[in-house]
Amino acid sequence: MVKPSVFVTRRWPAAVEAQLAETYNTVLNTGDKPMSPAEIREALKRYDAVLPTVTDSLSSEALDVPAAQTKILANYGVGYSHICEPSARNLGMTVTNTPDVLSECTADLAMTLLLMAARRAGEGERELRAGDWSGWRPTHLVGTKVSCKTLGIIGFGRIGQEMARRAHHGFGMKILVQNRSRISPDVLHQYNATQVETVDDLLPHCDFVSLHCPGGAANRHLINSRRFDLMKPDAFLINTARGEIVDEHALIQALMFDVIGGAALDVFDGEPRISPDLMHSDNLVMLPHLGSATRESREAMGFRVLDNLSDFFAGRAPRDQVI
Ligand code: DGY
Repeated sequence: MVKPSVFVTRRWPAAVEAQLAETYNTVLNTGDKPMSPAEIREALKRYDAVLPTVTDSLSSEALDVPAAQTKILANYGVGYSHICEPSARNLGMTVTNTPDVLSECTADLAMTLLLMAARRAGEGERELRAGDWSGWRPTHLVGTKVSCKTLGIIGFGRIGQEMARRAHHGFGMKILVQNRSRISPDVLHQYNATQVETVDDLLPHCDFVSLHCPGGAANRHLINSRRFDLMKPDAFLINTARGEIVDEHALIQALMFDVIGGAALDVFDGEPRISPDLMHSDNLVMLPHLGSATRESREAMGFRVLDNLSDFFAGRAPRDQVI
């Protein structure tokens, strides 16, 4: 039997690439360079499956092909707001993602950012490496205590729940939750969490707010200047979800004028481009989209794509079908 042809848009962990090469007629983007819309269109015309990832823009322009050979976009990553849903549907494509296997590591990173922001770890490291540390003193780089404070979680899916587990059971934090749908009392009980109706209801009560909702048009600038005004003046915002959820211009103003205490970002609107004003904010911690960046998660994400492909090519519904 002829093996299906598969195109992978970026380099993946070696163990997963080896398995892909054994199972399918696999073509890799060996240069690991981001692909243009025209290159993506070419791939859609030639391969049975295209395996994109979260930084590929599968916009209406990239999916504008009269007829596609590709029947499945098996995405490497949980977020899929980079894939134009109406275009994928018009082409009759199945789309899958890779949930679960990155939840713990992404929540670990959100907690890392929360702690770094509260304890001024970025500022401290910059000072030390610049050779400016003059020694211990009672007033040096004094931060904010994390234990027993209130954490607001916006989006209470798998990653949001892992964040709650760490914050509540590790740091004794009180958990408030805002989510589109109602969360079952059993789940809330695991973290002694309280669900509130709206984002506006949540913000004024939190010492820390961590974003775990999907990106895309629906949540673009969910956190804007009006909502920064609702936060406590010493509260911190943590974003490991998607850059577009936060209005970065409003964030810069909020940091500059002490509307909030600080922020920590792993994701940026239009990344990897970073606004120069963010670069100059001292009460801001920034990481380069590292949420799922552990060997364990990145391999598991790849093997999850392989599971989805094997279901699809065997005529079964893939477990992670999102479109
Ligand atoms: C995702 O999977 O959506 C993350 O942003 C990258 O792991």
